[in-house]
Amino acid sequence: MRVYNFAPGPAMLPGEVMEKAREEFLDYAGTGMSVVELSHRSKDYEAVVERTEALLREVMGIPDNYKVIFVQGGATMQFSAVPMNLRRNGKADYVDSGNFARLALEEARKFVDVHVAASSREDKYVHVPELDPRGFDPDADYFHFTTNNTIYGTCFPSLPDTGNVPLIADMSSNILSQPYDVTKFGLIYAGAQKNLASAGMAVVILREDLLERCSDQLPVLIDYRTYVKSKSLYNTPPSFTIYLAMLTLERLRSLGGVPAVYERNQKKARHIYEFLDRSRAFRPLADKASRSLMNVTFALPDEELNDRFVKEAAKSGLTNLKGHRVAGGMRASIYNAMPLEGAQALVEFMSDFEKKL
Ligand SMILES: Cc1ncc(COP(=O)(O)O)c(C=O)c1O
Repeated sequence: MRVYNFAPGPAMLPGEVMEKAREEFLDYAGTGMSVVELSHRSKDYEAVVERTEALLREVMGIPDNYKVIFVQGGATMQFSAVPMNLRRNGKADYVDSGNFARLALEEARKFVDVHVAASSREDKYVHVPELDPRGFDPDADYFHFTTNNTIYGTCFPSLPDTGNVPLIADMSSNILSQPYDVTKFGLIYAGAQKNLASAGMAVVILREDLLERCSDQLPVLIDYRTYVKSKSLYNTPPSFTIYLAMLTLERLRSLGGVPAVYERNQKKARHIYEFLDRSRAFRPLADKASRSLMNVTFALPDEELNDRFVKEAAKSGLTNLKGHRVAGGMRASIYNAMPLEGAQALVEFMSDFEKKL
C-alpha cells in the first residue's frame, strides 16, 4: 500500500513518474537495457541529459546566458563549491535564516570572510529575517540566502535587492514549486531529492559571467567549468537521478508548468494552515508572514501528545510527520508530488485527533 509520505527529503515523487520508470526500467527507449546500464558516453544517455536540461530551462524560464549543470554531492557540496568558485575579494554576505542557512555560512567561513547580513537566530528561526539592503555589504563577492527553510517551515516572501552583488540561492526545498525570476539570481542550487528526483545530485543554474571567477587551483569536481565544458558528463554522473528528473519535469510540464503547480501548492498549504489557525489543540510554529508552502510546521501542547500524534498518523498511512529534532513538534512536507488529497487526509486526521482529546 502506498502511503502519504510527508518526509522532508528524500520525499514523495509523483506516482506517474515512478510508474513510467518501472515500465521502462528493463528496456529504456528500445535499447534493450535499463537506463542504469546505459553508458554515460552513449548517444541515448547524452540525450537524457540534454532533454533534462532543456525541460528545466523551459519550465523555469532560464535564459541563454545561464548554464545548467548536474552535480553530485547534494546541496551540501554547494555550501563549499559556491565560496570556492565565486570568491574574488574574499568576503561574502550570508543570511542566517535556519539550520541549512547556518551550515552554508559556517562552511563558507573556511573560504571567505562571512558577514551575516540578516539573522533570525535569536528568535529560533520562527520567521525569516527582514532583508534590509542597508545591512548588506555593497562590496561583497556575492549574497547567499535560502529561499525556503525546510526545518523551520519558513520561506522568504520576496527577493532581496542586492544591487550589483550576485544573489545566490539555496532553493533545495522549493525549487519548481513557485515561479521565480531566474534573471534576478547569479546562481541557484538545489538538492534533487525533494521536488526533482531521487537523492545524490544538485542542480546548479548559474550566470555565465560568474565562471570567470573560477580559479585553476580548484579541485576538478568543485570547479563549475568542468561541468559546463563537459555538459555534466566529465565523469560518471548520477545517471538514474538525472533520468528521474527528466520524468518529473515532463510531468510538471504536462500539468501546466510551474504556475499551475504553484496554484495547487497554495491550495494544499492553505488547507492545512486554515485548520491550524482555527484549531484548539494544534498550533502553527512559523510566523504567518513567513509561512512555507512546502514544509508546514506545527505542534500540540506537549511532547507526549506530539509523539502520540505522529505514531497514530503513521498507522493511518500518514507517515514521517515528526518534526526535525532542533525544531520539535511536527512537520508536514508537502512538495509538488503531494496531492491535494494528501493534505485533506492530514487535516481530517488532525481534526479527528483533536476531537478525541
Ligand atoms: C534548504 C536545504 N539546503 C541544503 C540541504 C542539504 O541537502 P543535501 O542533503 O542534498 O546535501 C537540505 C536538505 O534537506 C535543505 O533542505
